[in-house]
Amino acid sequence: MSKRFYITTAIDYVNGQPHLGHAYEKIIADVIARARRSLGQEVFFLTGLDEHGQKVQQAAQAEKKNPQEYCDGLAADWQAFAKKLELTNDDFVRTTDPRHKEFVQATLSKLNAAGHFYKATYTGFYSAKEETFLTEKDRLPDGKFDASYGEVAELKEDNYYFKLGAHQQWLIDYIETNPDFITPSYRRNEVLGFLKNNTLEDLCISRPVARLNWGIPIPFDPEFVTYVWFDALVNYASIAHAHAALGLWPADIHVIGKDILKFHAVYWPIMLKAMGLPLPKQILVHGWWQKDGAKISKSTGNIIDPIAVINEWGLDAFRFYVLRELDIGPDGNWTDAGFGSRYQAELANGLGNLVNRSLSMLKRYRNGIVPAKSDELAADAAKAADETRALFKQSQLQAALQSIWGLVNRANKFVDETAPFKLAKDPAQAQRLDEVLYNLAESCRVLAVLLNPFLPETSTKIYAQLGLTGSPDKLADATWGGLQAGQTIGEPAPLFPRKDV
Ligand code: MSP
Repeated sequence: MSKRFYITTAIDYVNGQPHLGHAYEKIIADVIARARRSLGQEVFFLTGLDEHGQKVQQAAQAEKKNPQEYCDGLAADWQAFAKKLELTNDDFVRTTDPRHKEFVQATLSKLNAAGHFYKATYTGFYSAKEETFLTEKDRLPDGKFDASYGEVAELKEDNYYFKLGAHQQWLIDYIETNPDFITPSYRRNEVLGFLKNNTLEDLCISRPVARLNWGIPIPFDPEFVTYVWFDALVNYASIAHAHAALGLWPADIHVIGKDILKFHAVYWPIMLKAMGLPLPKQILVHGWWQKDGAKISKSTGNIIDPIAVINEWGLDAFRFYVLRELDIGPDGNWTDAGFGSRYQAELANGLGNLVNRSLSMLKRYRNGIVPAKSDELAADAAKAADETRALFKQSQLQAALQSIWGLVNRANKFVDETAPFKLAKDPAQAQRLDEVLYNLAESCRVLAVLLNPFLPETSTKIYAQLGLTGSPDKLADATWGGLQAGQTIGEPAPLFPRKDV
């Protein structure tokens, strides 16, 4: 049996409500997961929550809740959000899960026994208000620290450190010999540039319980909890371990945003090497969304509420826009006008109109009965299917949508060229009309199969409107000629109602 395709997202901090950036990353991973299943692979898709840390501890305090209670409340919202996006995740990790905590502790013990950690005293400037250490670089020209840090005191603190330095050259070599490990390539170059021009400092992995208690206790020293990355990153492996029978590790793809690249491309590989585990095959790095050219920010009110957009426009329209508008890599800019015009042009007038007029004409002129097979658009459909298959394997989702729309546009043009409404008026053109109607209906069927990972609801509706009982979720079914002559289609209905924008 071939290994399951294991794909993960970053786990989100649980200190607020999900926004566009979180939704985007999950939709990328979901479409890749569905695409791989459509290609016939077995898939395991993991997403979840990062629940420990100072911010959560404080937010819980502010609401007079204990941190676990606080996390449980928010976790329910985030799980509902995953449902709203119709994610096909196979598990949902919470870093407060005992199965995760136990794995983290076992890992820490093992690495400690093997000599990967040491304890050291750090002396530095500390802002209690911002819960952060400051360095000389943070001083203003007048030598003071910015007022926003409040009182800055010199602090002496013991902590545990993970030795990174010894692995620096190994990591450079690994990244250079595995060109797809970090994708896109400009992100790989960034990591290589960083590794070649800096000496890696050892990674602080603990916080004293006195300062932070909402964390995973370090098993060999109860006065400390593990801090951030030795907890969060390990989720990918702890959950693989929880499903040991499936043989998930190594992960095939970690989907992450550009801001957490260093953690995934530098610290995580070295942690895995120390743990004696193979590295994930790929770190797929997406860019950041802005709205109207400015940073998404709760405090300025510059936000997009994905749930509101989905309620207004439909889930598939939202999934479509984020993947069609922005390739995986660069930063993107959300505008409501841009969303509206893609909806109108590509979904309502493009795909929706094609399916609706094709099936309505078949209903009107042939009583909904599929005519004999005809192959005029077969080559166009095969081209879209071949390209889509290849692009799915490279996680090139935007390019796949472009290729699929090549077929949408070709078929719409075919309607205009052949003018079936005119053919229908001339009994001598009956056979020609049959040919045209078959080509259109079969193109709609192929489109349903190709679009299934992106637009699962729409794809299922197209199949139902075609009167097909199966599910459009196998790419092998995109082969031309699947629609059988003599079969009766279902009821045509608009897929994307037109909106006044
Ligand atoms: N908890 C850490 C990740 C640990 S992974 C082992 C974290 N959480 S986060 O909630 O801040 O971010 C989660 C993901 O959302 C990250 O991959 C981040 O890049 C992504 N995004 C957050 N804001 C974003 C945008 N505005 N646009 C696109 N993605 C963004 O980091």
